[in-house]
Amino acid sequence: TGQATLAGVSVVISAGPTREPLDPVRFISNRSSGKMGYALAEAALRVGANVTLISGPVNLPPPSGVKLVKVETAQQMYDAVLSQSGQCDIYIGAAAVADYRPSQIEARKIKKQHDHGVITLEKNPDIIAAVADQPNRPFVVGFAAETDDLENYATGKLRSKKLDMIAANWVGQHEGGFDSDNNALQVYWSGGSQHLPMTDKHHLAEQLLTLISEKFHEKNTT
Ligand code: PMT
Repeated sequence: TGQATLAGVSVVISAGPTREPLDPVRFISNRSSGKMGYALAEAALRVGANVTLISGPVNLPPPSGVKLVKVETAQQMYDAVLSQSGQCDIYIGAAAVADYRPSQIEARKIKKQHDHGVITLEKNPDIIAAVADQPNRPFVVGFAAETDDLENYATGKLRSKKLDMIAANWVGQHEGGFDSDNNALQVYWSGGSQHLPMTDKHHLAEQLLTLISEKFHEKNTT
């Protein structure tokens, strides 16, 4: 395996959670901290890429040299990503995008009234699938966050979302996944896979980027 080099290559990376509002003060979200996506942005900058980071709300400083676009909802992330992804060479979807949003956003704070409440949800657009569906698509790398049957679900997403590569991680375990400083990845592409064992997200991001860079250059020379 060679050194990653992405000099002059433009890379768009999504990171962090999205927030789906219920009313002016409440939202539905998830435990993503943005650490994985921000570490990938740093690693891409280090090997010479032009990096745009499209980030949900997180408590991390943007890596210096990155073009940062801040968003909150999945729909906003969709709009920001799709406005950039037509001109980029590599898209990496590390964000934990909410699959659903509340069907209705109340203009006023919802009052405490009954013993039970019901929230009706509707599907958000799939950002990475839309990126991969573009005629002039970039090299598309997805993530898969799974609590069970990792390989099946991840390779299913690789195919159904038409990705070039997918980095699968176990979530909901004592180490790795959401919010942890460490993570491990099982990376799949059509015709191969590689295990990247548990390490800190900065080191892991470097290894994943080396793999992405290899496969990206392979695809663009064949
Ligand atoms: O942010 P950290 O705390 O560091 O945690 C890192 C992480 C666990 C969030 C990260 O490693 C990770 O797995 N990110 C993807 C989480 C996720 O939402 O996975 P998924 O299996 O639900 O989605 C599969 C892929 O589709 C992902 O690339 C996701 O970005 C993308 N997607 C999903 C839904 C949607 N509406 N649009 C999308 O683009």
